[in-house]
Amino acid sequence: MSSLLVSNIGELVTNDLSLGDGSPLGLVSDAALVVDGGRVSWVGRRDHAPAADSVLDVDGVAVIPGFVDSHSHLVFAGDRAEEFAARMAGRAYSAGGIATTVEATRQAPDEALAANVARLVGEMARQGTTTVEIKSGYGLTVVDEARSLAVAADFTAETTFLGAHVVPPEYVDDPASYVDLVTGPMLTAAAPHAKWIDVFCERGAFDAGQARAILTAGLAAGLQPRVHANQLGPGAGVTVACEVGAAAADHCTYLTDDDVADLRDAAVVATLLPGVDFSTRSPYPNARRLLGAGVTVALATDCNPGSCYTSSMPLCIALAVREMRMTPAEALWAATAGGAAALRRDDVGRLGVGASADFAVLDAPSYTHLAYRPGVPLVVAAYRRGQRLA
Ligand code: NIG
Ligand code: FE
Repeated sequence: MSSLLVSNIGELVTNDLSLGDGSPLGLVSDAALVVDGGRVSWVGRRDHAPAADSVLDVDGVAVIPGFVDSHSHLVFAGDRAEEFAARMAGRAYSAGGIATTVEATRQAPDEALAANVARLVGEMARQGTTTVEIKSGYGLTVVDEARSLAVAADFTAETTFLGAHVVPPEYVDDPASYVDLVTGPMLTAAAPHAKWIDVFCERGAFDAGQARAILTAGLAAGLQPRVHANQLGPGAGVTVACEVGAAAADHCTYLTDDDVADLRDAAVVATLLPGVDFSTRSPYPNARRLLGAGVTVALATDCNPGSCYTSSMPLCIALAVREMRMTPAEALWAATAGGAAALRRDDVGRLGVGASADFAVLDAPSYTHLAYRPGVPLVVAAYRRGQRLA
């Protein structure tokens, strides 16, 4: 395989503390990097760069690690534009709309589900996302959850079994039997296609006892836990996530002081999803409180047809900065290295030597422009393992 020199980088974000300016972003100005065998083999000032088989001159712009979107629900059919319009006219968000998507997803052939995932993964790549986690959760039968995950696995290694999204209509009078199904035959069918197991632990979805049972069963089947926690109100989601050693607790809008301390002590990543709060007109989580307490924070899109139909990590960065008072540097770190931590990956979300050569080239002199120029398509190219994706 031939080597590639990416040169004339005005500002390179490495997220590598051993490189650059000593800040968490590991900024190197007037930089270059060399890709060999899909990995970064050299990083430094461009006037010291070694020769390579080919050269990509980016003309002085900023280069950042590809975004790691650690939370999405891309396997679905249909859309819920009418629900969104009604919400904007004043109706509150509730998880009830999920049933609409479940009905459409069950009727869709595998090819239609795969085409939808391909469309959204393509959108993501054009906006700089090079790693994405994809959940099931709109099938909610043994067959539909298994095929949802099989579809997702064609696009990413980061697949998550979310049979415990909501109790489907046919089980509303007997949720205990649905939990038995999820922890039994559905888990058995899903596990070969999944790395992670997730539960929507919330009033109206699954309570603490059910969530614990489901995550524990997933662990026994070799899956690693992550949790939808404390989105719509205070609750036990974060507590359960910390108890079971989840990689991440996602949403984290309604937290007590104990929840914040538990996240820090258990080293569970708090994944904030500001696109959801934007699209449901809900309060934003208190990022400053989490960062101040020393909790690791990630940003992700939660791309799904109900609560947040954006595939854009740059939008999430802009919202995190404007609405949640994260600095542009904190937001970029959370969208790259933070997402990698939420997926327990050390090969992505950074551009130090040895990392996967996953990067985005911006039409901007600095990563700050991602928040400073909201809504502007600044990603001009995205590469995974040194290969151009978009
Ligand atoms: O992460 N919270 C639960 N699940 C999704 C919403 C899914 C939907 O409304 O279809 C979420 O926000
Ligand atoms: Fe979600």
